[in-house]
Amino acid sequence: MINEKIETLLNEIRNAKAGNEKEVEELRVRLLGKKGEITGLFDEFRNVSAEHKREFGQKLNSLKNMAAAKIEELRGRVAETSDRKDSSSDLTMPGDHFELGTRHPISITREEIISIFRKQGYALAEGPEIEDDHHVFEALNFPPDHPARDMQDTFFISSGVNPILLRTHTSSVQVRTMETRKPPIRVICPGRVFRNEAISARAHCIFHQVEGLYVDRNVSFADLKQTILIFVREMFGPDTKIRMRPSYFPFTEPSTEVDISCNICGGKGCNICKGTGWLEIMGAGMVDPNVLEACGIDSKEYTGFAFGMGIERIAMLKWQVKDLRLYFENDVRFLREFETSI
Ligand code: DAH
Repeated sequence: MINEKIETLLNEIRNAKAGNEKEVEELRVRLLGKKGEITGLFDEFRNVSAEHKREFGQKLNSLKNMAAAKIEELRGRVAETSDRKDSSSDLTMPGDHFELGTRHPISITREEIISIFRKQGYALAEGPEIEDDHHVFEALNFPPDHPARDMQDTFFISSGVNPILLRTHTSSVQVRTMETRKPPIRVICPGRVFRNEAISARAHCIFHQVEGLYVDRNVSFADLKQTILIFVREMFGPDTKIRMRPSYFPFTEPSTEVDISCNICGGKGCNICKGTGWLEIMGAGMVDPNVLEACGIDSKEYTGFAFGMGIERIAMLKWQVKDLRLYFENDVRFLREFETSI
């Protein structure tokens, strides 16, 4: 008997509905009030034989808890809808507050880089993230056995003569631009790149780069140097110095790696620049004549320079972020720190 009553009440509670505060209160009184049905069952419980007391006791308690939880839930729902009704009928009520997001530090940095180069006459160019070997390696003068083509670095999607792969750098956009446009060419190419690397504080398998390319008659290394100097002074402050170290990239000759004077210690040496006073920020060089020719540009008539930098790296140096992974976790406490940088 008591068992059946418990079952019926359980069902009733599961399906209980209430349209307003009053109905919730009525339900509470009917179930849990002094003369309520569940309260009544507790009275009946006294007459249950000793051997069944334990079982019914447990059932009754969970019935009571369920009823209390349901009533709380209905009360919450009713309050929510009545709030909403209030604000729609009273037009002087303030609107519902909703959280505004902030722009991601990588987006902020990308926009800043683009805007600095825009002022120097560079147009935006973009290319696909899923690329082929021709645009990522072949046309950029990578010999067939160059280690960067190795499976260790590149995510291949297909194999064969001209494999499909995820681009490992935005230099592929140089190729696409030169293949489709005639000099003078002045483009800035931001984008996402992919490398098969273990994720750590200093490396990630997905990151962002900005590539720059300038091709025209009489473009010289001095132009490259001045362009980079203007960029770093706008990005890191007017006293920033640059240093160029000889380097090697298949697609530029000569090639260089560019350092800036440490923006933390001003070049005196600190733990950010590891005591050297310099921080590496990009690779650059004069476009190799082989690359111009591979893209259909006459290398006797035209010369050019190119440069490429990692957006995460620039952002890390600008804001002293020590762990690359923070950019990908999207913890709002981290993202909010850049709110004022917009
Ligand atoms: N593509 C190079 C990289 O991913 C960066 C780079 C170096 C781009 C030199 C250039 C360049 O255009 O001239 O590491």
